[in-house]
Amino acid sequence: MKYKTINYVLLLPVLIGILTSCNPSPNNTKESVFAEAPLFDADNLKHVEQEMVSPPALPKHEQVSERDPIVVEVTLFVEEKEMEIAPGVKTWALTFNGTVPGPLIVVHQNDYVELTLINAATNTMVHNIDFHAATGAMGGGDISNVAPGQQVTFRFKATKAGVFVYHCAPGGIMVPLHVVSGMNGAIMVLPRDGLKDELGNPVHYDKAFYIAEQDFYIPKDENGNYKAYDSPAEGFPDLITSMKTLLPTHLLFNGKMNALTGNNALKAKVGEKVLFITSQANRDTRIHLIGGHADLVWMGGSFNDAPATNYESWSVVGGSAVAALYQFRQPGTYTYLNHNLIEAILFGAMAQLEVEGDWNDDLMKLIKEPEAIP
Ligand code: CU
Repeated sequence: MKYKTINYVLLLPVLIGILTSCNPSPNNTKESVFAEAPLFDADNLKHVEQEMVSPPALPKHEQVSERDPIVVEVTLFVEEKEMEIAPGVKTWALTFNGTVPGPLIVVHQNDYVELTLINAATNTMVHNIDFHAATGAMGGGDISNVAPGQQVTFRFKATKAGVFVYHCAPGGIMVPLHVVSGMNGAIMVLPRDGLKDELGNPVHYDKAFYIAEQDFYIPKDENGNYKAYDSPAEGFPDLITSMKTLLPTHLLFNGKMNALTGNNALKAKVGEKVLFITSQANRDTRIHLIGGHADLVWMGGSFNDAPATNYESWSVVGGSAVAALYQFRQPGTYTYLNHNLIEAILFGAMAQLEVEGDWNDDLMKLIKEPEAIP
């Protein structure tokens, strides 16, 4: 009897080992958030230039990085441009690279971003950039102020994995003025070993889209018509009055009414896993995919936490970005929207996806067409 007891005791560590390996927690191999980021000789690391592309596209990138950290060179051009955001509605958009939102940047955790911000002499205002992914100096805002005709370069280490907003923040009232004029974007900092599902297993996306919601506060004249101005500065007094109502006139996905609907709808196929990165630099929103779900949502945008599963709608807090992943199981038209349906339908916060593939009768079947009630 004594002999048997000793045997069980010896087996205990083995049993614990088996049980642990059957239930891999995404958290059990991680370091504390207070652990020092590993040190690299950033001045002598390999540099790779990232070619920026316009949203909803993402720049070319690897989902898993098998190399040492690198310095990712990114150039953003400030462009102040008059944009027609809805039929007959013009505003002086303040932009990174000419789009609202600015381009999505993609790096891996502990890579360095070497950011060059160019403010052409043809612009009229001082701009800068604050990265929510960066540490110190107001996210870079304090060291990146550039007047028209200037450029600046600074480097930051992407220590935290997740999706993060960046935006212009030139101080005081200029901060909200520039942000609601479109001067914001996002950066995705992937874990070096890629994304993990809720069980801690690797998950790859077949496609990714960057969709940002922008709140605009376009001033109106005494007759209720939207006003246009000859320069951004000329419109600012009216814009301040309009902003102070906290009532947007437009809530647009990717800077323009119907930028991602109808002929501009996004495309996917049944079976594909699609990663949606959605940012809102100024205001809360809540996202829903009509006809689908989020299989995985990294709430608050953090890739450090296990993703939540099977959400119907998910929150994007103002000043943040969130990533959600869905595998399409059924073809057809899907709507990706802000599920304040007034904000979606009347203010513009919606996109569409056209998904190709074979219909699955098991998931849904029309049993009887609409007909007169007998
Ligand atoms: Cu600016």
